[in-house]
Amino acid sequence: MTCARTLPPHRAVLLLCTVAFFIASGWSASAQNVQHLSITEPGGMPGWPILTGIQQVTNGVNVTWDGPSGYYQLYQKQSLTNATWQAIGKVTNLLRTTTVAVGKSNAFFRVSGPAPDYAGDHAVSNLPTEVCAGCHGIIHNTETNTPHFRTFQALQQIHQDTNSSCLACHTVGYGLPTGFINVTKTPQLANVQCENCHGPAGNHAAFDTNPTVTPRVELAATVCGGCHTGPQQPTYDEWETSSHAEVVPDVAAEMNASTNLIDSCGRCHSGSARLALLKGMPLPVGDADIAVVCAVCHDPHGNHTFTNLLNGPFTFTNPLTGDSFAITNNQLGAVYTNQLRNPLCSTNDYYITTSGVFTNQYVVNINICAQCHNHRGAFWTNWTRAPHNSPQYNMLLGTVGELASGNPPNYPASHSRLEKQCVACHMQTSPFQSETQPAVTGHSFSVQTYEACTPCHGTQGEGLVQFLGFVVSNNVSQVKGQLDTWATNASPPALRTNYGALAWEYASPGGLSIGSPGPTNATLQAMIPVNIQKARFNLYIVYNDGSQGVHNPFYILTLLDTANQWIQETLNNPGN
Ligand code: HEC
Ligand code: HEC
Ligand code: HEC
Ligand code: HEC
Ligand code: HEC
Ligand code: HEC
Ligand code: HEC
Ligand code: HEC
Ligand code: HEC
Repeated sequence: MTCARTLPPHRAVLLLCTVAFFIASGWSASAQNVQHLSITEPGGMPGWPILTGIQQVTNGVNVTWDGPSGYYQLYQKQSLTNATWQAIGKVTNLLRTTTVAVGKSNAFFRVSGPAPDYAGDHAVSNLPTEVCAGCHGIIHNTETNTPHFRTFQALQQIHQDTNSSCLACHTVGYGLPTGFINVTKTPQLANVQCENCHGPAGNHAAFDTNPTVTPRVELAATVCGGCHTGPQQPTYDEWETSSHAEVVPDVAAEMNASTNLIDSCGRCHSGSARLALLKGMPLPVGDADIAVVCAVCHDPHGNHTFTNLLNGPFTFTNPLTGDSFAITNNQLGAVYTNQLRNPLCSTNDYYITTSGVFTNQYVVNINICAQCHNHRGAFWTNWTRAPHNSPQYNMLLGTVGELASGNPPNYPASHSRLEKQCVACHMQTSPFQSETQPAVTGHSFSVQTYEACTPCHGTQGEGLVQFLGFVVSNNVSQVKGQLDTWATNASPPALRTNYGALAWEYASPGGLSIGSPGPTNATLQAMIPVNIQKARFNLYIVYNDGSQGVHNPFYILTLLDTANQWIQETLNNPGN
């Protein structure tokens, strides 16, 4: 497929495409109702149409393109020598996609659409008002305080403000008609502004009641990805490799099938669902596949100021071991400002459940990662399934799990006193060195280096993780083996005969067991002694935390020890 852009008369934008088709098959039935930006363009939202795909469908080909909101018209001709373009469908296509019935195996397509009409929202003396501010005052006021509104100054400071290779990502609409030219001619279009993310909006500002030109509100990470990419700032590239970039396929299928699950699972698994819940907007039925995108964690419109609860020097005593250590936190200061919706650290226990009104459970001042990485209300009395894989925050705080001394436990790890908490280990950064040693932005969210450990562990961080991981996985196997022994040798006959080694398991067994089901109903589950139920809970809360102990080393070992003791006691006293 080759495409060339030409500027036609009447300022309509044309896109010319030669299509030798049956290029791509496998257009899937999961086409979404809402069209998301499927490409990344330096500059953000494309200012004019760009062909994004031609795919074979049963009744023809499906042509898709991207660009700002507005009317599009698709044209077709059967051969290049044919002089006339034949219009397909109405001139008022708002969807940026059309299915075309085609008889032959070759066709050429062209789409015309709205001409870019950038307005700019910059405060400059030769303009009477700031264009968007007139009606979107609150967003304008906060957005103009973000670093986006200083991106042109950043170029000016290093005298690169006329370097054409820099301007697409540091100004509005560079290279397009009505876009940025230079700071004298188009001062209102300097910096990254509204129209980088929402597309050209001059028509909208002039005719704000015309719904066909209402600017796009794009949640997909692609809108940020066109600029936050490349070796200097590979944020998008790293994010794309993380599991935040995709909704777990099973969960996506369930959410697309059930509005209830969009609410209950989507609050953590789907960015479109979470933002709709936060803003009191309708649930994105059929559009919950937007995962943990940039705008879930970052507020595109404003800075937020947070109090650093862990600022400065202090001594921390691990309540479980009684060991003290001194720490000085000096990266963030007493208060800090960034574009995140939630702070980097918090010390209150927290979880949200899969039921109940989301906004009643939402607490803005809880650690950004803990918003989703919490135990979801897991408790040892639950019998249907093992605790979810998400208890990391509660593990760090030592507030989930069962100890003989009763509950709730409260044995925070020393690691919970790192001022950036999760981010300290999971989002370590390093600056750009060269094309072959690009910057690291931390947006893979995985622990890739052990530099953050050196202040306390010297160069032993990695070795300690391996050692602890070895101990924890041995202990996990041991507890699991003991539970199997109880199930096959000591469990009540009604369980033993029907469920064998799964007699200790949840109704839907967790990831440590093969096969299913476990005891299937409340009556059968009640035959499992309390201490066996608590032991299996500890086992799975540790296993599903996924840190192999690191999130709370001594507490996690204690949970497994306690589990072992309980099983041992039960085996020794079969009457219990
Ligand atoms: C004269 C008032 C006015 C001006 C000026 C204006 N807007 Fe709007 N804008 C509106 C109204 C009213 C709506 C809601 C329209 C709708 O829902 O169709 C809206 C909707 C939007 C939306 C979509 C919101 C949504 O939830 O779908 C975006 C994005 C937007 N405007 C951006 C801009 C930008 C960028 C500018 C400056 C270039 C601008 N607006 C200038 C009145 C205005
Ligand atoms: C692909 C888009 C893109 C291009 C092209 C681009 N930049 Fe940037 N630039 C960015 C992004 C995104 C950031 C913010 C990075 C971050 O904070 O993670 C940035 C940040 C910067 C900063 C740092 C600003 C500060 O205050 O810390 C400077 C300076 C800069 N760019 C200069 C340039 C120069 C000079 C060029 C051309 C040689 C250029 N950029 C080309 C996207 C781009
Ligand atoms: C860095 C990209 C970016 C910039 C710059 C930006 N927006 Fe947005 N905007 C978004 C995203 C993403 C959303 C949806 C998520 C959200 O609402 O937080 C959104 C949502 C909106 C909405 C609808 C929902 C709401 O929050 O009211 C309006 C209206 C809007 N933007 C207008 C503007 C205006 C006006 C400006 C400039 C003053 C602007 N935006 C600048 C990315 C951006
Ligand atoms: C047109 C290009 C462009 C787009 C689109 C864009 N950004 Fe940026 N962004 C930049 C540049 C350039 C900077 C550097 C600002 C500076 O430090 O001078 C920046 C800075 C930032 C910063 C602050 C960095 C800091 O050092 O404090 C955040 C956070 C950010 N962008 C997030 C986003 C998100 C989220 C989106 C999408 C909703 C987005 N950006 C879309 C170009 C872009
Ligand atoms: C409180 C937030 C939260 C809620 C609510 C939630 N999840 Fe999760 N879920 C997570 C997090 C966080 C992970 C990733 C944990 C990890 O990979 O270590 C995850 C992981 C998963 C996984 C992948 C597990 C694996 O084996 O890799 C599945 C499947 C899943 N969730 C299903 C669901 C379903 C179905 C629902 C709704 C009934 C749901 N989740 C509700 C936070 C949540
Ligand atoms: C799961 C939450 C999350 C997601 C998703 C996410 N970020 Fe971030 N991002 C963060 C956190 C947390 C920081 C701050 C790290 C720190 O302070 O050390 C950050 C830092 C940044 C920064 C540097 C500015 C600063 O304040 O230090 C930029 C730029 C940025 N993110 C852009 C993006 C873009 C673009 C995307 C999408 C491709 C994205 N982020 C996705 C959580 C997230
Ligand atoms: C909006 C909810 C949400 C937020 C906020 C969030 N996560 Fe996640 N996270 C998830 C979900 C859901 C998954 C699982 C996705 C999957 O398995 O496909 C996940 C997966 C992960 C994984 C990978 C686990 C694996 O098994 O591969 C890590 C690591 C992670 N998150 C760390 C973080 C960190 C660090 C932060 C804070 C900067 C954070 N997350 C913020 C929801 C969230
Ligand atoms: C002291 C450093 C440290 C802190 C603090 C920390 N983690 Fe971890 N985390 C780790 C290490 C190390 C692993 C094991 C990583 C591995 O096996 O690749 C891990 C594993 C995980 C996993 C399992 C996913 C995987 O990649 O297998 C998730 C999810 C996770 N952490 C999320 C979080 C969240 C959310 C927080 C904050 C509540 C947090 N972590 C705090 C170091 C830390
Ligand atoms: C601010 C100091 C500090 C930093 C930074 C830190 N730790 Fe720790 N770590 C501790 C303390 C103190 C303990 C003792 C256990 C406790 O109090 O929870 C510990 C315990 C451990 C243990 C258990 C083995 C032992 O020696 O007790 C492991 C494994 C571990 N840390 C890994 C890491 C990793 C990996 C990192 C970096 C990603 C890291 N730590 C960063 C303070 C720190």
